Order: sequence, then C-alpha cells, then structure tokens
Amino acid sequence: MNDASPAKWAIDPHTRAKHQILDSYLKGWFPKLTSFQDKVIYLDGFAGRGRYTDGTEGSPLIALRALVGHQHLKRMDHCKFIFWFIEANKENEAALRRELEAFVEEHNTGSGPDIGVDLTHNTFEKTGRELAKQLDEKGGKIAPTFAFIDPFGYTGLPMDLIKSLFGNSQSEVLVNFMVGFVQRFIEREGQEAAIESLFGLPVDQVMAGKLSDAKRVEHLRDVYMAQLKEVGGFEYVRSFAMTNHTGNVSYYLVHGTHHREGVKLMKAAMWKADPGGGSVFQDRLHGVEVLFDPAPDTEPLRAEFLSVFAGRSAVPIDEIEWHTILETPYRETHVRPILTALEKSGVITVRRNATRGFPSGRAWVDFPNASE
Ligand SMILES: C[S@@+](CC[C@H](N)C(=O)[O-])C[C@H]1O[C@@H](n2cnc3c(N)ncnc32)[C@H](O)[C@@H]1O
Repeated sequence: MNDASPAKWAIDPHTRAKHQILDSYLKGWFPKLTSFQDKVIYLDGFAGRGRYTDGTEGSPLIALRALVGHQHLKRMDHCKFIFWFIEANKENEAALRRELEAFVEEHNTGSGPDIGVDLTHNTFEKTGRELAKQLDEKGGKIAPTFAFIDPFGYTGLPMDLIKSLFGNSQSEVLVNFMVGFVQRFIEREGQEAAIESLFGLPVDQVMAGKLSDAKRVEHLRDVYMAQLKEVGGFEYVRSFAMTNHTGNVSYYLVHGTHHREGVKLMKAAMWKADPGGGSVFQDRLHGVEVLFDPAPDTEPLRAEFLSVFAGRSAVPIDEIEWHTILETPYRETHVRPILTALEKSGVITVRRNATRGFPSGRAWVDFPNASE
C-alpha cells in the first residue's frame, strides 16, 4: 500500500485525538511563545495530504487554523510566523499544495501578522540535514519551533537530526512514536540501521534490560524517551499512550520540551482530548494505569501525595502542583479537590494566608508521616 492510497487516509478515532491535541496545544503555544518572541516556526515533518477521505482536515490546516482563527490573533501582530510543511510522497504533496493554496487565498486579507506558508517536497531527513548544515555554516540556530513528527512508520526521523535541529532551548517536538511497528520489526534482519537511526542506539543496546515480551512496548517507549532526553537534549520528556478498544497501545505521543510550562500545556491538551470509539489516552503512575477520563480516578494521586510529601511541613501549594504536572500523569486541576478532601478528613493541616482554598503562593500543607 503506498502512502497516498485512500485506505491510509480514512480518519479514525486515534487520528482525531492526535488532531485535537495538536489544535489545543498550538492555541496555547502560539500566544505563550509570541509574548517574548518575534519569530516562531510550526514545522510539520510528515505533513500528509491535507485532508482525509471523509473531508476532515489534516494537521497542516489544523495548525494554520489554530493561529488564523485565534481569539488573540491581534496580540500576535508583531510576530512573524512560518508554517513549514515537508511531504515526501508526490501525490500527497500535490494534494496538500492545493489545500494550502485554497487556504491562503481564503485568508489573505492583508491584515494581521506576517504568516509564511512553505511546502517542501522531500523527506524530513534530507530537508532537515540541509537546514542543519546551513545553520551550522552560519553558526546560527533555528527560530523557536514546534515540530510535529508524525510518520506512518518508524523510519526517517533520526534521533541525531532531532537533536541538531531542535535541541536548542526554545524548540519542542511532538513525536508520534509508532511503537507497534517498532516492536514487530526491531529484531528483523535488515532493520538494524533504521532502528539505530530512530533511537540513536544500536539494536542490542535498545533491547538491553528488556524484562519480558509482555513489557516490550513499554521498554521501547522508555528507551526512546530516555534518548530524547539524553541525546535530543530535551529537559522534559513525557509520553502519552493512545490505546484502542482492545486495550492495546496504538501509538505513543512523545513530547519533548525545554520548559515546564510546555508540559503543563500539553497535559491540559491531553486531558481535554476526547477520542471516542473506545480509544483513550492513558499514562501510568507507579504501575497503575491512569485513564484520561472526564471523571478520572484520582486515588493514585492522593496516594502519591501522602507518600512523596510524607512527614514534611509547610509544603507550598505551588510545589505540589508542579510535582503533579511534572512527575505524574495528572494535571494541576486535580490537585485541589484531593487536598480539600484530605483537609476535611483531618489527614493534612493547611496554613494559609487567605480565608479558604489553596491560593497560589498563599497556602502551605503539613503532611503526616507515612503510615506503616
Ligand atoms: C501519518 S501521515 C501524516 C498525517 C498528517 N500529519 C496529518 O495529521 O494530517 C505521514 C505522511 O508522511 C509522508 N512521508 C512518508 N515518509 C516520509 C519522509 N521520509 N519524509 C516526509 N514525509 C514522509 C507520507 O506520504 C504521509 O503523507
């Protein structure tokens, strides 16, 4: 089946969920970045054909709309935006070009920020290497970039290229890590180079320490995340599993950023997504599955607080929130209901510089010692 065949362009709940996340994240990322930058790039390394067989728009149009239709677009007037799409398949590239031309014509009002739209017909790797070479020669680095790396398989996204393009302190990546294919092919003859390029490690090192076949998917994810941190240079790396109705992982979305605010924004986007069709995003906390459900089970987070902060007094509310965002699958909105219940039942004591609640910077919590 070639990359332009209609079967590959039928939309499913997993793809919808990916798009919801992209849309939601970019709507937060554009205003945040432009509050201190005057040039930002959205780079879609495996851009696709722009539209699915049922008419649903693909990631390039979703990204453009997230900006053009933004309620705070006026505040971003000072910024230059570059939308750079890379697509290797000729048919898909031609289809995307038509979509982009129609979009630009429709939105070309002559007002608003400067928005450049560029489509390159080539592979992500060749285009990226050429760019990296040019940047290297000039001694420069890429403007702050959000790179969406969304292949059909696992080839063509070398770890060393991700590092050389986006390892700088303002850029971030969202990688669709197609773990199902990786686990199926990793030990097949002839795949050594592709696997080494993906992980930035030879196959035997990728497989080292794998406990059992049952844990293979999680092991591969852990190695990929560790490499994105160590080799890619991202300070914060988190992954989110998309599971289908059979409970199997369809893919991991792996987010690498240099800013904890980026993690906060991505968490919000993940928790808001509603894939439907029996699919769900999930993550784990100490081996316990946490489903990103509108009414989630927050017991694992409660247990985490009582264990991590055990015996500590005057723990600032902000520390508890950041711990939740950075070290657990949960988001900041899950914190206060748990603390309120713990206070009501007399488990914790709260000192506050306010009449009630847990206002940021004005509430401190005393936790009991760990129970035996
Ligand atoms: C999963 S689809 C992208 C979907 C798109 N991001 C979206 O959400 O609408 C992957 C795309 O990458 C293209 N492709 C395959 N290999 C590539 C490569 N090495 N570099 C760039 N594009 C590639 C395929 O033709 C296909 O259109």
